[in-house]
Amino acid sequence: MKIIKAKDYEDMSRKAANIISAQVILKPDCVLGLATGSTPIGAYKQLVAWYEKGDVDFAEVSTYNLDEYRGLSHDDPQSYHYFMRENFFDHINIDLNNTHVPDGSNPDAAAACSEYDKIVAAAGYPDLQLLGIGNNGHIGFNEPDDHFSKGTHCVDLTESTIQANSRLFDSIDDVPRQAYTMGTQTIMYARMILVVANGEAKAQAVHDMCYGPVTPACPASILQLHTNCVVVADEAALSLCE
Ligand code: GLP
Repeated sequence: MKIIKAKDYEDMSRKAANIISAQVILKPDCVLGLATGSTPIGAYKQLVAWYEKGDVDFAEVSTYNLDEYRGLSHDDPQSYHYFMRENFFDHINIDLNNTHVPDGSNPDAAAACSEYDKIVAAAGYPDLQLLGIGNNGHIGFNEPDDHFSKGTHCVDLTESTIQANSRLFDSIDDVPRQAYTMGTQTIMYARMILVVANGEAKAQAVHDMCYGPVTPACPASILQLHTNCVVVADEAALSLCE
């Protein structure tokens, strides 16, 4: 695991965007695994700015997102489909047909998840997988558990995640209780993993991810076993790693 310390959120975002744009420049038809949450928004903004300057071209890129709330339609403003268009896809020259997010609007969880596994596998898995990290160490929506997950599956969100994500909804009762998420094994198939984290609230999770035991109680800890994992985090998120 390579840990890169950033001064603050802007610095973290620029460094992460630099790594992603390098991937796109090196391999214009690369497969990107993408993440939602507030952490990567700054990196997406920076990539959009570089796209507008003509520095990076997404015409041949394809993307696979980590997760989606179960029960939300694609045009629901709280859905991750909507988030990705709003924060990234609608501002760059990516072909929307090449962007993929698990289908939260499909109530048949088994079908939605196995369909997603098939398309991610057919794409050959991401060249670069971008990840945020939950306060409890979750990646995608892989919550702390007694085993690591494999492929895409339906999860019951923990109270801590529902609480943390409720800031983005009108009320906590509006937060979906379930989600479809790429599994931990699928995430580990990516050829490079880029984790972004900022703020003191992530300090414990970042410490446990980098230096704690490898355990499904902290799903992100498995990234210690990945041969090409880079963590870009600000000083506050790294404050327990000194
Ligand atoms: C959600 C997402 C994760 C994300 C996490 C942290 O639960 N499913 O992919 O990493 O939140 O979000 P934030 O970046 O807003 O702290």
